[in-house]
Amino acid sequence: MSLVTVKELLQKAEKGGYAVGAFNCNNMEIVQAIVQAAEAENAPVIIQASQGAIKYAGLDFIVGLVNIAAGKATVPVALHLDHGTDFVQVVRCIKSGFTSVMYDGSKLPLEENIMMTKKVVEIAQAVGVSTEAELGKIGGTEDDVRVSDKEAMMTDPQEAKVFAESTGVDALAVAIGTAHGQYKFEPKLDFARLVKIKELVDIPIVLHGSSGVPDQDIKKAISLGVRKVNIDTNIREAFVRGVHEVVRNKPQEIDPRKILGPAKEKMAEIIREKIRLFGSSGKA
Ligand code: G3H
Ligand code: 13P
Ligand code: ZN
Repeated sequence: MSLVTVKELLQKAEKGGYAVGAFNCNNMEIVQAIVQAAEAENAPVIIQASQGAIKYAGLDFIVGLVNIAAGKATVPVALHLDHGTDFVQVVRCIKSGFTSVMYDGSKLPLEENIMMTKKVVEIAQAVGVSTEAELGKIGGTEDDVRVSDKEAMMTDPQEAKVFAESTGVDALAVAIGTAHGQYKFEPKLDFARLVKIKELVDIPIVLHGSSGVPDQDIKKAISLGVRKVNIDTNIREAFVRGVHEVVRNKPQEIDPRKILGPAKEKMAEIIREKIRLFGSSGKA
């Protein structure tokens, strides 16, 4: 199948009341694990690459790998830029064949975030690429912030309404208490805020920093309107677990395939679990 847009996948998810998994890739094994898992679950899937992943693997490699994987896949696959903070990079991704891009202007003042997001939306729409933007600051688990500051970083529902309406963006990433990376404490999601956002905003909501969020909270967030769930850290953990296991049990092993192969299987396992949790199993 050729690549599809995230917009298309999320529109179906909205009708069906489930969420589509968006999994970060950095290399061939991760791309293969994502598609293998999605096929095993007969689920639509979003493969996303961050600016860091693009810097590591190369834009052409990411696009090439995902196109080959999607071309052979029996399920719909979208290729999405994750947290594009650099306008030029976003445009390069659009030109290179990404079917969806996130412009992340969350660190900018609101007016500037709106202005830049609008610019990206205009370009993307002209060539049939879908868009995501961020309002509020999701941040990382390493950020040592006080509760009052955390509140201030969260998405303001009224602002979200203005943002969505004035930018025309297809999906909105919100800050409701999740963070990127491994949590030091269990995250506390602000579901009341999510409900308010959903009441005022008419586009699919995206949950970032979803690794380490308890399953019941993910399910609740989906029941309240989250339609795209981003997972990276859990994949990294599975990869490293797989590599460690081989290196520990067979320290003489020098064949990279016998080290990375089991790591790929571990990643595919966790991705399948997430797909089932998100309710997108069987929705291809
Ligand atoms: O949200 C961030 C993703 O986990 C990507 O992380 O920038 O280290 O590739 P990265
Ligand atoms: P985690 O690494 O916490 O799963 O977050 C992934 C993410 O939000 C990518 O944009
Ligand atoms: Zn993110």
